[in-house]
Amino acid sequence: MFTKSKLLPFVTAVSLAVSSPFVMAKNFKMAIGDAAGGTQWELGTKFTELLEEKTNGEVKVDLFPNGQLGNEQDTVNNAAIGLLDFSILAINNVTPFSPTVGLLTMPYVIQSADEAKLLTQGEVGQELVDNTLRDAGVRIIGWAYSGFRVLTNSKRPVKSPEDLKGLVIRVPRNEIMISSYQAWGVNPTPMAWSETFTGLQQGVVDGQDNPYITVYAMKFNEVQKYVTNIRYIFSLEPLIISESIFQQQSPEMQATILEAGQEATDHSFAYLAQTEGKIRKDLEEKGMVFTDPANDEKEWIEKVTTAVWPKFYASIGGKEKLDETLKLLGR
Ligand code: MLT
Repeated sequence: MFTKSKLLPFVTAVSLAVSSPFVMAKNFKMAIGDAAGGTQWELGTKFTELLEEKTNGEVKVDLFPNGQLGNEQDTVNNAAIGLLDFSILAINNVTPFSPTVGLLTMPYVIQSADEAKLLTQGEVGQELVDNTLRDAGVRIIGWAYSGFRVLTNSKRPVKSPEDLKGLVIRVPRNEIMISSYQAWGVNPTPMAWSETFTGLQQGVVDGQDNPYITVYAMKFNEVQKYVTNIRYIFSLEPLIISESIFQQQSPEMQATILEAGQEATDHSFAYLAQTEGKIRKDLEEKGMVFTDPANDEKEWIEKVTTAVWPKFYASIGGKEKLDETLKLLGR
């Protein structure tokens, strides 16, 4: 028989559970496209740590790096239908599902980390978050800032678009990026991110582009030698949550998820500033050879802004959308 004193801890535990906004212990799953150690991983681990802390350990998130839960584009589909809770992936792999997000990958629009922050965290970012929710059924709740995508290849230094001739370059299945390489005079090879290391290793493709931090985390330096500092896209990597999973949470839990997402985003911005230079140096020490584009990158810039921008006005919401964005950036 229960005595009053034996019952007390039980009653207290029940009333605590009932008054807690996080009634049941939860285990979420998060897909991460890159290997552990990059900016996606940093954002994911920070978010997880914050969420656990804010829910007194009642919520846990298990991280699955290196595309273990499918390639980046598949994780958007899986989250949309509620099969996956969270995913962190590159923005260029969200664009096929929500074309207006392509604004953030229009070549040479974002020219610094501060501009990337301004666009993702201001009104423009909010509109893109709303559009992604409407188009893709996933909610962007945080951002990893990964730095500019640079071109790497295994064959030779590349200074001008002319030097690309004869190189097979891998790109994601992303129309803006495919068109950019076409404007530079080559036909790139679309390939899923999860297949890229093997593609480079086996020589199916000679090169690719991604930020220093991603090149480092993915160990591309083992299969690539030459780096060209083109700065055509600033790599942004959203943390998404399945909207159907989000809607199953209590209002308190939703607010906690959003808060942890914002704090993890702030952390990611600081992390990039602290690590990017060091990682570039490490890549140099590991034998990578760095080249700056000839003529201040002018030729690269002119070719894509004239040929690629107009092709995508309609998909990003009209020429006015790009004009407004450039104005906001002071150009
Ligand atoms: C890609 O090139 O597909 C992505 O940028 C990869 C990534 O998520 O880092």
